[in-house]
Amino acid sequence: MSNSMWGGRFASGPDAIMEEINASIGYDQRLYKQDVAGSIAHARMLAETGILTEADRDQIISGLEAVQKEIDTNTFTFSRALEDIHMNVESRLRELIGDAAGRLHTARSRNDQVATDFRLYVRDAIDTLLAQLKTLQLALVTRAEEHVETIMPGFTHLQNAQPVTFGHHLLAWVEMLGRDFSRLEDARKRLNESPLGAAALAGTPYPIDRDMTAKALGFDRPTANSLDSVSDRDFVLETLAAASICAMHLSRFSEELVIWSSAQFGFVKLSDKFTTGSSIMPQKRNPDAAELIRAKIGRIMGALTSLMIVMKGLPLAYSKDMQEDKEVAFDALDSLSLSLAAMTGMVSDLVAVPDRMRESATAGYSTATDVADWLVREVNIPFRDAHHITGQIVALAEQKGVGLEGLTIEDFKLVDQRLDSRIHKVLTVEASVAARASYGGTAPAQVAFQAARWRERLTGEKTEPVAIGKKRKHGHGDGGA
Ligand code: ARG
Repeated sequence: MSNSMWGGRFASGPDAIMEEINASIGYDQRLYKQDVAGSIAHARMLAETGILTEADRDQIISGLEAVQKEIDTNTFTFSRALEDIHMNVESRLRELIGDAAGRLHTARSRNDQVATDFRLYVRDAIDTLLAQLKTLQLALVTRAEEHVETIMPGFTHLQNAQPVTFGHHLLAWVEMLGRDFSRLEDARKRLNESPLGAAALAGTPYPIDRDMTAKALGFDRPTANSLDSVSDRDFVLETLAAASICAMHLSRFSEELVIWSSAQFGFVKLSDKFTTGSSIMPQKRNPDAAELIRAKIGRIMGALTSLMIVMKGLPLAYSKDMQEDKEVAFDALDSLSLSLAAMTGMVSDLVAVPDRMRESATAGYSTATDVADWLVREVNIPFRDAHHITGQIVALAEQKGVGLEGLTIEDFKLVDQRLDSRIHKVLTVEASVAARASYGGTAPAQVAFQAARWRERLTGEKTEPVAIGKKRKHGHGDGGA
């Protein structure tokens, strides 16, 4: 059968293999809302500029609305012989309203049409992701506010380094997501130009009004070069690049959740809703959601790589290669959206185990730096020398098989006469975190301040920092204010 839309010059239609490789309707049917919206804006503009009669416009618009309703309600029959969403919609429009349908494609081409549809789709996807990012950030800020004073080990090289507060750690994730947010927002700004009216590649001889269609579709302005308009997929690439970085972040959080929820760490308990049992080991609670989010970066970054390679070396303007832009992008954007939803659920449901965290924070001589800092501050020793003296103190503690707090004043004096009883005060993990009150540091007061700053930013409501010192169990250090 000859293709009814462009089949005029073909004696016999594409064979089954050609149809299979050529058709995109299997996946681009997702663009139907954008396709209908683009066509309605185009028809209105054609009538406004006198290219189409008002009667034809009205028929076309009500026909397009009927098509959209059919697709919405699953009563539309998609045809692979009609290749893609654009021709499926137009063909059905013709069935519904007759000849007027044939006038809709005046002054446009599928090349500017698909570029328009896809921009609208990616813009919607960005808006969804932005809202989801905010929701996840707010969930994290809420947990951070609960844990401004909860002490956990801070790591470098995954070795105990210095104690930090759990709230501080959670807010580090909020910062990472904040950058993801601004990257997507930034991509959205550049995306928001309308390619509609670029036509096949060179523009059109009809007196169209591209500003009008741009405005109707919520674009800031029309694109300025018709060749670029139909051959540009930067807007997808930028979005996928931002999505990849975000997925990388989620993968890192997930890894931490996997580690923290292990028996060896036991810092958090993940809820039943986001874990699964084992079919043979009844005691198990596997962090499957975290593991799957950890893995999603594979397909999300795969989409970026895939499209980058599709676009590489393509001459201007449109080439059919570009049809390969959609499947991978849909999959990547879906995957990121699902990951954000699952991460939000996990964060909201997780139960922290502060006692385990604190116990772990005291291991590994985690306050050794505080001893060195004390020597600098109180005895005015250069930091390098203080570091050396502290190294000897740690060695002594190791030798005696105790933590730093297990050393007596005599022990300290054995290493350096200038150490005195005041040193015991700086050895607790509470004193250690409270001391780190520099801007952006881990002290509870700083964390409360930053949490309030984020809450205000995310909700737009004036927010006071949560109070410090209310719930403290191990009571050392003043927490600052
Ligand atoms: N289905 C096509 C795509 O996704 C639409 C554009 C087709 N244009 C063309 N000249 N064949 O890219």
